[in-house]
Amino acid sequence: MPERNASAIKVVSRKSLCFFFTTTTLLFITSWLFVLRSTRSDSTSEAISQLLSTTFTDSVPDSSQSRNSESNFSNRAILANTKKQEIVKCNSHTTTASNDNSNYINNFALKIFMYDLPPEFHFGLLDWKDDKGKNVKNTKVFPDMKTKIPHYPGGLNLQHSIEYWLTLDILASELPQIYPNNARTVIRVKNSSEADVIFVPFFSSLSYNRLSKRGPRENKSRNRVLQEYLVSFLMSQEEWKRSGGRDHLILAHHPNSMLDARMKLWPATFILSDFGRYPPNIANVEKDVIAPYKHVVGSYVDDQSSFDSRHTLLYFQGAIYRKDGGHARQELFYLLKDEKDVHFSFGSVQKGGVRKSTEGMRSSKFCLNIAGDTPSSNRLFDAIASHCVPVIISDQIELPYEDVLDYSEFCVFVRTRDALKKKYLINFIRGIDKDEWTRMWNRLKEVEKFFDFQFPSKESDAVQMIWQAVSRKVPLMKLKTNRSRRFFRSLYGNNKDTGHKSIPAPANFW
Ligand SMILES: *[C@@H]1O[C@H](CO)[C@@H](O)[C@H](O)[C@H]1NC(C)=O
Ligand SMILES: *[C@@H]1O[C@H](CO)[C@@H](O)[C@H](O)[C@H]1NC(C)=O
Ligand SMILES: *[C@@H]1O[C@H](CO)[C@@H](O)[C@H](O)[C@H]1NC(C)=O
Repeated sequence: MPERNASAIKVVSRKSLCFFFTTTTLLFITSWLFVLRSTRSDSTSEAISQLLSTTFTDSVPDSSQSRNSESNFSNRAILANTKKQEIVKCNSHTTTASNDNSNYINNFALKIFMYDLPPEFHFGLLDWKDDKGKNVKNTKVFPDMKTKIPHYPGGLNLQHSIEYWLTLDILASELPQIYPNNARTVIRVKNSSEADVIFVPFFSSLSYNRLSKRGPRENKSRNRVLQEYLVSFLMSQEEWKRSGGRDHLILAHHPNSMLDARMKLWPATFILSDFGRYPPNIANVEKDVIAPYKHVVGSYVDDQSSFDSRHTLLYFQGAIYRKDGGHARQELFYLLKDEKDVHFSFGSVQKGGVRKSTEGMRSSKFCLNIAGDTPSSNRLFDAIASHCVPVIISDQIELPYEDVLDYSEFCVFVRTRDALKKKYLINFIRGIDKDEWTRMWNRLKEVEKFFDFQFPSKESDAVQMIWQAVSRKVPLMKLKTNRSRRFFRSLYGNNKDTGHKSIPAPANFW
């Protein structure tokens, strides 16, 4: 009996195995067809999967595996975010919060560990030298905030200068004379185990602007060399290994900065101006932080203007002809050029035009922001500083701190396809009456401080708003870090030893 039973089972199992095999094969083929189809229609995802399979799998453990599950868990992370938000109390809608300054600050302090990267990566790019006039290469890593604070170069570099303001703020957080009564938003900690985030002090935008040209005898630009060093440095750090980089903060505000390194440092949180030149898995709104450009026109202090005193209806200043995605500019120009109260001016703000565009924006009711080479530009922040209601025609734009700030209260958004319909835009804007405009103008005057960079930082300025945005990412960073460790206990032993072991940098590193 038992024998007969056994053979029956065998037959059954062979049958079911056969059935199972055919079904899975069929399923496999269908899903494969599906994959083929979707990759053909979306070249980005193809690029990403390629990237994932080549670049990342060997450099960062568990990347592709944890990726999907990470996004599945984003809802949980959002819950965690909300909790943190309550504590952070970002009071974007009231101005009364300033009375309770000390409380506000004490509730919020982001603990930051900053790598001691050599000056070549940061203040050395500003030609910073120490007090004795020698290059600081072998003495101190960072300038002494008590004596002389290095200057940031003016001109075009300035719009991406977030790296400078944030790093100064971290350094100054140690000095009670700069932030008395602990009125600081970050605390620099020397033990990385105690930090919420690990800060990488590389002035990548400045490096891109200054060091991208290759010397006649050089194989690579200095900008690329620095990025390569940075990647190998980070990969060798205990801090990076602990989290796979997930609690690291990396600055790449210029859309072309970190062009090489970004593909290897993607687990980190980037601070960016937009996602225009990033594949969605390298940078996205869930993981990364959008920071404003520093506006190049001055703040409009004591603005006494009104709807009626601003004679120009709509103002645009910028290059008309752009490469990618900038075709809308040309078409809009032809649609609007015959409207009497519309001003289109050509050329960049930089070419002696700062004064002119300041005047132009201050005497206009609305300022146009049209996508150019990238979805974002400093023009939006110039408009905000001039209290000229921004009209945003850029479908892919990302806006700073949009989780705590409702831009529809002070900006007008128009979809590109609508804006390109004949008479649509101009009728739309003419349809906004004095009351509505004045409401937005008043709101602009309330929110402009969120976009001001300064040192020392002040309450709710851009520096503090960015730190708060970073702190809202911290729960997600921790969650991702913990999840990434699931299958890697053996790598870290029993995970008890978190002491800082320094691993020697690659040969000839500096
Ligand atoms: C750093 O902090 C961790 C956790 O608080 C602690 O266990 C470790 O001993 C500290 N390391 C040093 C060098 O102080
Ligand atoms: C430049 O590249 C070539 C070939 O790849 C190599 O032989 C040469 O040593 C490099 N030069 C420098 C300065 O690195
Ligand atoms: C991750 O694990 C640590 C303990 O190592 C814990 O303190 C922390 O709360 C965890 N993070 C999250 C977001 O659960």
